[in-house]
Amino acid sequence: MAWTRFQVRLLGLTPAAEGQYVAEFRLQGPAPDASPGQFVQLSLPGVFWPRPFSLLDWEVRDGAAHFRILFAVVGEGTRALRSMSAGDLVEGHGPLGLGYPAIEGPTWMIAGGYGVAPLLFALRASAPGAQQSARIFYGAARADLLWRSPELDRFAATLTTMDGSAGRRGTVLDAVRAELDAGGARPVLYACGPMGLLEAVHHLAVERGLRAMVSIETPMPCGMGVCRGCAVPLAAAEATDEKRYVMACEDGPVMDSARVDWEQERACRI
Ligand SMILES: Cc1cc2nc3c(=O)[nH]c(=O)nc-3n(C[C@H](O)[C@H](O)[C@H](O)COP(=O)(O)OP(=O)(O)OC[C@H]3O[C@@H](n4cnc5c(N)ncnc54)[C@H](O)[C@@H]3O)c2cc1C
Ligand code: FES
Repeated sequence: MAWTRFQVRLLGLTPAAEGQYVAEFRLQGPAPDASPGQFVQLSLPGVFWPRPFSLLDWEVRDGAAHFRILFAVVGEGTRALRSMSAGDLVEGHGPLGLGYPAIEGPTWMIAGGYGVAPLLFALRASAPGAQQSARIFYGAARADLLWRSPELDRFAATLTTMDGSAGRRGTVLDAVRAELDAGGARPVLYACGPMGLLEAVHHLAVERGLRAMVSIETPMPCGMGVCRGCAVPLAAAEATDEKRYVMACEDGPVMDSARVDWEQERACRI
């Protein structure tokens, strides 16, 4: 899929939840297409390697691509991004990687924290019929860590918090499990969030005989298959002597959870 090196102008930063912001950019120059689950690499002031962010949306208007990301401030790069002002320019490249497949039939989306961004993009980009066959579950530790996007109401999202301060009390997977127990649905699971959540989604999918498509989050120094810094160990069924790893940046980030050796992945997790 086509990607480009780009310069983007920051159009604005909006607080989204505690420690999380939505950043909106306009891409200078030719505008490639992008699909839900793809990401961009942004070279942020003062940090050497670019940082990957999933697209919350991507729209070509007046000949220029406009896109938004939802980001959490966790370290040097994201602190630098939060400190930027409207009008500032950022270098980067993208859109990169393989996104979510188009929704076909019942699909349940499971989001942890800022993982809600690419899943909302996937829902928004789907045909009305596909949207009706999809559900979204979105969880965080506390109410103030949930981004209250108006789209969550539009898609009748099921919210969860660990302390019960918004939505159902418990983990987002508790809610998914309860809904699976309550009805006869056999949805495909789409998930985005911390690696621990993705691993738990994988185990749930195996237990219930479902398919899960998860967006792998590893460090991604280059984002284009060169540095080998985003290697993900392959499950025994797929691994060979010649090929034991795939690169999350180009074979993913979205991939079938059954492809991953989760035990080995957990041992290398940061
Ligand atoms: C495909 C992909 C999509 C992503 N999409 C988003 C997004 O939409 N919004 C968002 O806020 N973040 C997203 N991330 C994570 C984001 O890239 C990191 O939070 C960011 O690189 C941290 O940079 P930093 O300089 O602020 O922190 P650093 O100083 O680099 O790190 C701060 C802390 O975060 C940990 N960390 C850094 N990168 C990662 C990582 N990739 N996975 C797990 N822990 C990490 C470090 O070990 C350290 O403890 C995505 C990552 C990937 C791989
Ligand atoms: S990030 Fe460099 S190979 Fe994937």
